[in-house]
Amino acid sequence: MFLLLVNLFLLHPYLSSAQLRQDFYANVCPNVENIVKEAVTTKFLQTFTTVPATLRLFFHDCFVQGCDASVMIASTPNNEAEKDHPENLSLAGDGFDTVIKAKAAVDAVPGCTNQVSCADILAMATRDVIALSGGPSYAVELGRLDGLSSTSSSVGGKLPKPDFNLNQLNSMFSDNGISQIDMIALSAAHTLGFSHCDQFSNRLYNFSTSNKVDPTLNKTYAAQLMLQCPQKVDPEVAIDMDPSTPQEFDNVYFTNLQQGMGLFTSDQVLFTDDRSKPTIDTWASDTTAFEKAFVTAMTNLGRVGVKTGSQGNIRSDCSVFN
Ligand code: HEM
Ligand SMILES: *[C@@H]1O[C@H](CO)[C@@H](O)[C@H](O)[C@H]1NC(C)=O
Ligand SMILES: *[C@@H]1O[C@H](CO)[C@@H](O)[C@H](O)[C@H]1NC(C)=O
Ligand SMILES: *[C@@H]1O[C@H](CO)[C@@H](O)[C@H](O)[C@H]1NC(C)=O
Repeated sequence: MFLLLVNLFLLHPYLSSAQLRQDFYANVCPNVENIVKEAVTTKFLQTFTTVPATLRLFFHDCFVQGCDASVMIASTPNNEAEKDHPENLSLAGDGFDTVIKAKAAVDAVPGCTNQVSCADILAMATRDVIALSGGPSYAVELGRLDGLSSTSSSVGGKLPKPDFNLNQLNSMFSDNGISQIDMIALSAAHTLGFSHCDQFSNRLYNFSTSNKVDPTLNKTYAAQLMLQCPQKVDPEVAIDMDPSTPQEFDNVYFTNLQQGMGLFTSDQVLFTDDRSKPTIDTWASDTTAFEKAFVTAMTNLGRVGVKTGSQGNIRSDCSVFN
C-alpha cells in the first residue's frame, strides 16, 4: 500500500497539486487578482484576440511539461524553445503580450515585485478573458512556480491534433490526468477564436473518397467553408471556429455540433461517437450545467504538472529564464 502511494506520487506529478491554494498570495501581494484583471481588461478592450490567444496559450502551456509558463520562453541561439516548435500551431502573439503586460502591472506594485509567477499570471489572465467574453468566472488556484526548461523537442506528441478520434483524444487527455467529461468541457473553448484552413481542409477535399466531403459535416456549412477556404487558399487565412457567435464564450459550441457544424474532426467526433454524444446533448440545452463542468475542467487543467520547490522559480521576465 505504501509503495503504491509512493508510486502514484512519483509517477504522476499532477497529483502533487494539493499545494495550490486560492489565497496563495494573500500575504505578499493581496491585490494581485485585481491588478491582473485590470491589465487584462485594458488589453481586451484593445483587441478581442486577447481572449482566444490567452485561453489557448494556457492550454498549450499546461499540456507541454505542465502549467509552468515554459511556453512563454523565447528561443535563444543555443535553445529552440517550446513556442517555436511547428506544433505551437500559430499561437497568437496577443496571448504572450497579455501575460507580459499583466506581469509588468503586478511588478509595478511595491511588495509584489518578482513575487508572482508567470504561470499563475497566465492562469489568472485565462480566468479573466473567459469572464470578459461572457463565460463563467471562478476562483483560480495559485501557487505554481515557473519551469526551468523549455525545448522545442519536448512539444512533439504532447498536443492533440484536429483529426483525432475519441480514443486518441481520451488517451492524450488522460496522460494529463484529464477525464473524458473534462476534455469535452474544455473543447468548448472552440466557441471562440480562429483556425487556419489547413487544419480542417482534409474534411472538405478528400480525394481518397468518392464523395470527397466528410459526411459528418453539415452540407450548408461545408459549402460555406469551401468559399472561405478554397483549395489554394493563402495559408494566412483564418476563419471563425464558431460561425454563429464567434465572440461569445457560450454553449453554442454544443448546438453547433448537433447540427454537424463542428469545425475539426476532433470537435464533431464528440457528437458522432455514442460515448460522448449524451454529454453534448445535455450541455447544448443546459448552460448552467456546462459552465459548472467547464469551471471544474479548467481547475483540473490548471493542476497539470505544477512545479513547486526546487522544480521552479519566479521569473522576473516571463520570456527569459532567471
Ligand atoms: C480537444 C483537442 C483539441 C484540438 C485537436 C485542438 C486543436 C486546435 C486547432 C487546430 C486550432 C486552430 C489553430 C490555428 O489554425 O491557428 C485551435 C484553436 C484554438 N484552440 Fe484548440 N484544440 C483542442 C483543445 C483545446 C482546448 C482544451 C483549449 C482550451 C481550453 C483550446 C483552445 C483553443 C482556442 C481558444 C483556439 C483559438 C486560438 C486563436 O484564435 O488564436 N483548444 N485548436
Ligand atoms: C511558431 O512556430 C513557427 C515555426 O516553427 C514560428 O515561425 C513562429 O514564430 C512560432 N510562433 C510563435 C508565436 O512563437
Ligand atoms: C478520407 O477518405 C478516406 C477513405 O474513405 C477515409 O478513411 C478518411 O477518414 C477520410 N478523411 C476525412 C477527413 O474525411
Ligand atoms: C445544417 O445547418 C443548418 C443551419 O446552418 C441547419 O438549419 C440544418 O438543420 C443543419 N443540418 C443538419 C443535418 O443538421
